Amino acid sequence: MPYVLALDEGTTSARAILFDVEGKIVAVAQHEITQSYPQSGWVEHDPLEIWSAQIGTVSEVIARAQIRPSDVAAIGITNQRETTVVWNRQTGQPIYPAIVWQDRRTAPLCETLRQRGLADIVREKTGLVIDSYFSGTKIAWILDHVPGARAAAERGELAFGTIDTWLLWKLTDGKLHVTDVTNASRTMLYDITRGCWDDQLLAELQIPRSMLPEVKPSSLVYGEVAPHLPLAGVPIGGVAGDQQAALFGQMCVRPGMAKNTYGTGCFLLRSTGTAALMSQHKMLTTLAAQTGESLEYALEGSVFIGGAIVQWLRDGLKLIRSSSEVESLAQTERDNGGLYLVPALAGLGAPHWDPHARGLMIGISRGTSAGHIARAALESIAFQVADLLDAMNADAREPIAELRVDGGGSANNLLLQFQADILGVRVVRPAVIETTALGAAYLAGLATGFWTSREDIAAQWQVDRAFEPLMSRVHAWEKRQRWADAVERSKRWEE
Ligand code: G3P
Repeated sequence: MPYVLALDEGTTSARAILFDVEGKIVAVAQHEITQSYPQSGWVEHDPLEIWSAQIGTVSEVIARAQIRPSDVAAIGITNQRETTVVWNRQTGQPIYPAIVWQDRRTAPLCETLRQRGLADIVREKTGLVIDSYFSGTKIAWILDHVPGARAAAERGELAFGTIDTWLLWKLTDGKLHVTDVTNASRTMLYDITRGCWDDQLLAELQIPRSMLPEVKPSSLVYGEVAPHLPLAGVPIGGVAGDQQAALFGQMCVRPGMAKNTYGTGCFLLRSTGTAALMSQHKMLTTLAAQTGESLEYALEGSVFIGGAIVQWLRDGLKLIRSSSEVESLAQTERDNGGLYLVPALAGLGAPHWDPHARGLMIGISRGTSAGHIARAALESIAFQVADLLDAMNADAREPIAELRVDGGGSANNLLLQFQADILGVRVVRPAVIETTALGAAYLAGLATGFWTSREDIAAQWQVDRAFEPLMSRVHAWEKRQRWADAVERSKRWEE
C-alpha cells in the first residue's frame, strides 16, 4: 500500500493530496469553497458544501493517480482552524452556516468578556487572547441567535465541531464526534496545560459540555471511512489544524525551530517543545501536533491578511489578472517609492489585536505607480511577519537561526528575499511547499506504520532555496520604523 492521502480543508478550497513513501506529491485534486459575506465583518461557509467539495476531491485524486483504493494506507485530515459548525446529532444537518475564523461578529461579546475581567483567566488556561477569531464566542453566538438552539443544546441534541470534527463525523457516517488537541486549543474553551475542556469557560459562555467533541492526540487511528464512501475502510490516522500540521510537515519539532506559512493570512509558529511558554508580547500559546504521550507546544503569531492583500490587488483594484503577476509588477520598481500599505482589511491580528483597525496606504506622491503598490503590498506581508518574529524572540529570549517558509506565497522570490532582508535571518523554502498536507500525511502515516519514526520523516525534508539577508541593518531598521508609524495610523479607525 504505497500512498497516504491528506485532506486539506482550507479557507478558500478543499484539496486532496496523495503522497508516496518518500513524501513526494503524486496527485492533487482541488475544489473551491464559496465565501459568503452576509454583513460587514461576517464570513460564512456552507458545511454541506465543504463536505461535498472534500469528498469530491477524494474520488478525483484517486482517478487522477490511477490507483486502487486499496493502495491508500491511511488518511490524514488538516483544516482551517476555529471555523465553527453546529449540527443536529440525529439528522446530521447543520443548524447554521459555518462561522469562519475571519468572522468578526462576536467582537462585542469579546469586549463584554474582557470587561468581566476574563482576559487573564483565558490566557492562563487556553494560551489565547480574547478575540472573535476563536470558536468559543462563535458557538455562543449560534446558541443565542438560532431559534431553539440553546434548548436543543441543553437537551444534548446538538454537536459542535471545527472542520476536522465535521469531516470526521461525515467520513464515519456519524460514528465519531472527536477532534485533536491542536484544534481543541483554538476554541478558547480548552485548558492546554491540563489537557481538558474547561468548565469555568464553558459556564462563562453558557456552552453545554455535551456539545463538545472528545479530544485525541493528532497521530492516532481515529476510525475508518464508512462503507458507502470512496476509500471505504481506509483508516483515518492523523488530524491537526493546518498551521500545526505545517509546523510538523516542516519538521519544526525541536524548541526554537520556526515556520511561517504565507496563505490567506500568515501564521508564524515556533516550537517550544514540552514547555507551554506564556507570551508577554501578545503571541498565542498553542498545542503543537501530539504524536506521543506528552503534549507539545508552540508560540503562534497570526496575521489575518497576508496573501489576501494580493487577492485584493487582483479582485478589488484589478491591478493584476492573476496573483502570480504581483511579482513581475513589483519588479517594475526598484523599491516601494516611500509607499507603505497596512493591510488591516479585517482589523489587525497579532501582536496588535485591534478589530477596529482598517487598511491604509500612506506616502502616495505624484510618482506613485502600480508597481509601487504591488511592492508595498508584498512588503506589508513581510513587515507583519517581522513584527511577529520580534515579539516571539522577546518571549523566547533567543532569536531563531532560520525561518522555514511554505504556503502559496512562498513561491514568490521577491517576497522571500525582502523577508530575509527585513528580518536579518536566513529564510528557507523546502522542496515541498505543501507542508500543511504533508504534515497531515506524516501524522497519519506514523499512526499506521507507513512511516516508522520522526527521524524517518525528518530525513525527507529538503531545501529548495535559501534566501540570505542582503540589506544593510540600518536600512532595514529605517524601513521598519516607517512601517511601525503607518501601522499606528491604521489603528482604531472604526471604533
Ligand atoms: O487560523 C486560521 C487558519 O487555520 C486558516 O488557514 O490556510 O485556510 O487560510 P488557511
